[in-house]
Amino acid sequence: MNKLAIIGGTGLTALEGLEITRQQNIETPFGEPSSPLLFGEMAGQEIVFLPRHGGQHTIPPHRINYRANIWALKSLNIENIIAVAAVGGIRADCYAERIVIPDQIIDYTWGRPSTFFAEDLPEVTHIDFTYPYAPSVREKIIEACDHLSINACTEATYATTQGPRLESKAEIDKLERDGCDIVGMTGMPEASLAQELELKYAAITVVANLAAGRSQEVLSMEMIQQCLKSGMQQVKNIIRQVVITSS
Ligand code: HPA
Repeated sequence: MNKLAIIGGTGLTALEGLEITRQQNIETPFGEPSSPLLFGEMAGQEIVFLPRHGGQHTIPPHRINYRANIWALKSLNIENIIAVAAVGGIRADCYAERIVIPDQIIDYTWGRPSTFFAEDLPEVTHIDFTYPYAPSVREKIIEACDHLSINACTEATYATTQGPRLESKAEIDKLERDGCDIVGMTGMPEASLAQELELKYAAITVVANLAAGRSQEVLSMEMIQQCLKSGMQQVKNIIRQVVITSS
């Protein structure tokens, strides 16, 4: 897979095994991305890495400059993006630590600048968003999971909530009735912005916790971080495998 970028999320602010060779600050018409873009080499291939929440994990989901992030990657001629994110599990088989590769998404966020097609346009522009995730990138990720015998869930609808708070039980019940299987805070507008710029984008998510009301435990960041540790190790292996098979 040519010209690949990884957008890292909670639990993945650095990509182990990626030897950083240089970094670049990029200004975009929409401001600065979450961090300098990090260039590195993995299995002989150049990869660009961008930690979505910033290098020190300080930018909350609703304050991320999604437009600058996607624009910066496009300006580097990136063609494929693998986005990594922590999510809560709603559907019973989306249990803690499971890898879930979503194939659909519903956007419940509000007030986030969510399009490049707002101003100075010769005509109103709509993109087709029937399939939010690029089949070619999803395929590579699923093949890598199979190769590594990782039992990933490959059909799931990702509910993107506004955050930064977690949800109420009634909100999760509503998301479930809507057909959502996992819940996170960063899936949108990242996916649609990538589609607007014709970047091939897919996501690997790790279930960090059962969503609100789906377990007896009180949700805490410590618990979520703990769960992410082993899940993110699997994500690193998957990314490495994707790179190996496409170099
Ligand atoms: N809800 C929303 N976002 C999340 C969750 C959750 O339960 N867990 C990790 N990110």
